[in-house]
Amino acid sequence: MLKSVGVILVISVAVAFICQSTLPPPPRICGLPGGPPVTAPRVKLRDGRHLAYKEIGVPKENAKFKIVYVHGFDNSRHDVIIASNLPQEVVEELGLYIVSFDRAGYGESDPDPKRTMKSTALDIEELADQLKLGDKFYLVGFSMGGQTVWGSLEYIPHRLAGAALLAPVVNYWWSGFPESLSHKAFRQQLPQDQWTVRVVHYFPWLTYWWNTQKLFPASSVAAGKIVFSRQDYEIFSKITFSDGTNHREQTKQQGEFESLHRDMMIGFGNWEFSPMNLTNPFESKQRLVHLWQGDEDTLVPVTLQRYIAQRLPWIKYHELAGAGHVFPLAEGKAEAILRALLLGE
Ligand SMILES: *[C@@H]1O[C@H](CO)[C@@H](O)[C@H](O)[C@H]1NC(C)=O
Repeated sequence: MLKSVGVILVISVAVAFICQSTLPPPPRICGLPGGPPVTAPRVKLRDGRHLAYKEIGVPKENAKFKIVYVHGFDNSRHDVIIASNLPQEVVEELGLYIVSFDRAGYGESDPDPKRTMKSTALDIEELADQLKLGDKFYLVGFSMGGQTVWGSLEYIPHRLAGAALLAPVVNYWWSGFPESLSHKAFRQQLPQDQWTVRVVHYFPWLTYWWNTQKLFPASSVAAGKIVFSRQDYEIFSKITFSDGTNHREQTKQQGEFESLHRDMMIGFGNWEFSPMNLTNPFESKQRLVHLWQGDEDTLVPVTLQRYIAQRLPWIKYHELAGAGHVFPLAEGKAEAILRALLLGE
C-alpha cells in the first residue's frame, strides 16, 4: 500500500515537474511595461501585431528594384546577408532599395502565437502595401528565411517580381522526397540536431522543455555550436561587419520561445503544402526564381536541395562548389546573386 502511494507520488511529482517546465514563460513584448523599448519603425498588421522593419539602399522613390529580405534563424532585421558585403557603388548602380523586417517574435516584432507559413507570407504582403512598394516586389530569403520564400510562392505569388532562395532550410517531412534520400540526409546531421528536429516535429508541445533541459544536448544551431564548413570559417575570419554595431542582443530579447522555438516548430512541422508541388507563378519563359546552395553546406543537405531543384525545372538552380552555408558573405557573391536575380546576368 505504502509502496504504491510512493510510486504514485513519484509519478505525480515527475508529471508536475515536466508540465511545469514544458510551459514557456510569457514573452516580454516590446513597448509594453517590462518589455524592451521600441526603437525601429513598425507597421501595424491586420490582427493588431506590429512588424518592425529596416530600410537600406537608395530611397524607395528612386529605386529601380525593390526587395523584401527575410532573415534566418536566430537573426533579425539587422542581419541582411545580401547587403553585409555589398559595395555602396553596386547599391547605387543597381538602384536597390531593400527592406528587411523582424519575423514575428524576433527583434521588435510582436510574437504571433498563431504563426503559420501563410501568416508570414501575409505579413510580407501587408508590409509591402503599407510601405507602398507597388504591385510587385522581389523577395530574398536566407536559410530559415528561405522557408518564407517557399511560403510566399504558395500564398502570395501574384505579388512577386522574382525571388531568391539562399541555402533555404529543408524540412525532411515535405511530401515528395524519396524516403531513402531524406532518411539518409537526416542521418548525416549531428545526433543532437536529429533529436531536436524529431522532438519539434512529433512532440511540438515539448519544444520548450527540450530546448531548455540540461539532461541531453539540444540543437547545436540554437546553442551557437554549429560546425560550419571550411569555406564558412574562411569567410568568418575575413569579414568585418560594416556598421560596427552589435545588434545581437535584440534578436531574441522577447524570449526564445516565440522566436527560436516557434521558428523550429513551424519550419520542421507539418506543412500544408510541399515546395515540390509548387507550380511556376510566372508566365515568362525566363526563370525568375533562383535557388543557391553550397555543396559543402553542413546545415542544409545539398542532396535534398538538388532533388527539389530537379523536381522544379522552372527554378534556376545554382550549386556552388566548395561553398558552405554563408556564401552570400563571400567577396563579390552578393553582387553576383543580385545581378542574376534582377538583371538575369
Ligand atoms: C503533393 O502532391 C502529391 C501528388 O499530387 C500529393 O500526393 C501530396 O499530398 C501533395 N502534398 C501536399 C502537402 O499537398
